Amino acid sequence: MDLLVAETAALSPALLTALRELWDAAFEEFDDTDAEHGLGGVHVIALEAGAPVSHASVVPRRILVGDRPFFTGYVENVATRPDRQGLGLGARVMTELGVHLRARYDLGMLATGSWGFYERLGWERWQGPSWVLADGVRVRSAEEDDALMALRFGSSVHIDLTADVTCEDRPGDAW
Ligand SMILES: CC(C)(COP(=O)(O)OP(=O)(O)OC[C@H]1O[C@@H](n2cnc3c(N)ncnc32)[C@H](O)[C@@H]1OP(=O)(O)O)[C@@H](O)C(=O)NCCC(=O)NCCS
Repeated sequence: MDLLVAETAALSPALLTALRELWDAAFEEFDDTDAEHGLGGVHVIALEAGAPVSHASVVPRRILVGDRPFFTGYVENVATRPDRQGLGLGARVMTELGVHLRARYDLGMLATGSWGFYERLGWERWQGPSWVLADGVRVRSAEEDDALMALRFGSSVHIDLTADVTCEDRPGDAW
């Protein structure tokens, strides 16, 4: 298994196509906006015989904790090919992504239903209410409250997990 760490711009069209096939296979529902959410940052990709078998990416977003903005590494499209799950690939990829995230950002965040997978990697569940900032108006995103997790370190290490948390809107799922 090889681990590739690369920005989106450095990925070949063939590898991007193979990654889309991986995401489509791993997620029950996955569309073009979901794919775009994971582009524009750094990818960690586990390759076997040249084919991607596990992936995670981190993209830059501005997240407010209370009223305090954080330059946040937002983790997207964490997926292991179904026939290769349960072998430690996802943990390897996420551990490598965490190194990159801590070096470049002030806070990590993601949305998931697989809390246990991330908790063992140091991520913590958000406990406060979530919001989306759209056209200058903050709107509650209560349906996302349970999904959110944070990786606290450096200047974010003491942030309050019960505080309000706000992201900026984007096409598709805001969180
Ligand atoms: C979640 C996912 C990325 C994990 O990848 P993986 O390569 O199977 O994970 P690993 O083999 O590295 O698992 C590491 C550990 O986490 C555990 N784990 C895996 N998925 C888990 C989950 N959903 N909840 C709790 N623990 C989980 C594994 O049992 C394993 O524990 P072990 O080391 O004691 O055996 C993979 O199951 C997947 O692609 N799922 C579909 C897409 C998805 O839900 N993505 C994440 C949500 S955003």
